[in-house]
Amino acid sequence: MSERQPAGPADCVIAPSILSADFARLGADVDRVLADGADWVHFDVMDNHYVPNLTIGPLVCAALRKHGVTAPIDVHLMVQPVDRLVPDFARAGASLISFHPEASAHVHRTIQLIRAEGCQAGVVLNPATSLSVLDHVMDDIDLVLLMSVNPGFGGQAFIPGTLEKIRRVRERIDASGRAIRLEVDGGIKPANIGEVARAGADTFVAGSAIFGEPDYADVIARMRDEVAAARG
Ligand code: DX5
Ligand code: ZN
Repeated sequence: MSERQPAGPADCVIAPSILSADFARLGADVDRVLADGADWVHFDVMDNHYVPNLTIGPLVCAALRKHGVTAPIDVHLMVQPVDRLVPDFARAGASLISFHPEASAHVHRTIQLIRAEGCQAGVVLNPATSLSVLDHVMDDIDLVLLMSVNPGFGGQAFIPGTLEKIRRVRERIDASGRAIRLEVDGGIKPANIGEVARAGADTFVAGSAIFGEPDYADVIARMRDEVAAARG
């Protein structure tokens, strides 16, 4: 279905994390952030097992689709095991599904499962995860999600060492010749999004920096300006 195909400006996708949205009025808050210029909805799924926090599942994803959200929904699974939930999220309207390789016994199989369910597939690298997890999956993935904080909570500070890692993943993606998006997640705000873009990211998750401000449109516009300026 066309609304499940990730879209947005090719070189700058802004994906607000609804972890920091108003859960009591989630549909309205998501409508608002999309109307204010966001491209994707970043949907953080935590299970109190792989990470020490508990958030939302497929029912909430389906509810957003039923509410009328047509933007790509970018599901970030912080769950273990992974595979059981993939078909549920595909049926619930996920566009992309990313997972942590440490949480899957068979990483390649999980990627195949996500794609067989009609979604784009991403692998997520924690701050201490080696890039070697990408070695044998570059032909099969649509997205690399680099964590710039440890997963589990919104509102943490960006880990500066991520910048060098972004550069190295960018080299790998360019060498692959494939259209793999490079998304960075954690502590992104107008003050640092420029250097994240300069390092090679094209897709930017931001939770507290957007939902924590009264004027979403202003923050998103400032983020886009910083990305454009960083690229000259
Ligand atoms: C952390 C989540 C992030 C988080 C980002 O585990 O994956 O998506 O919500 O939040 P901020 O932008 O507030 O760091
Ligand atoms: Zn996330």
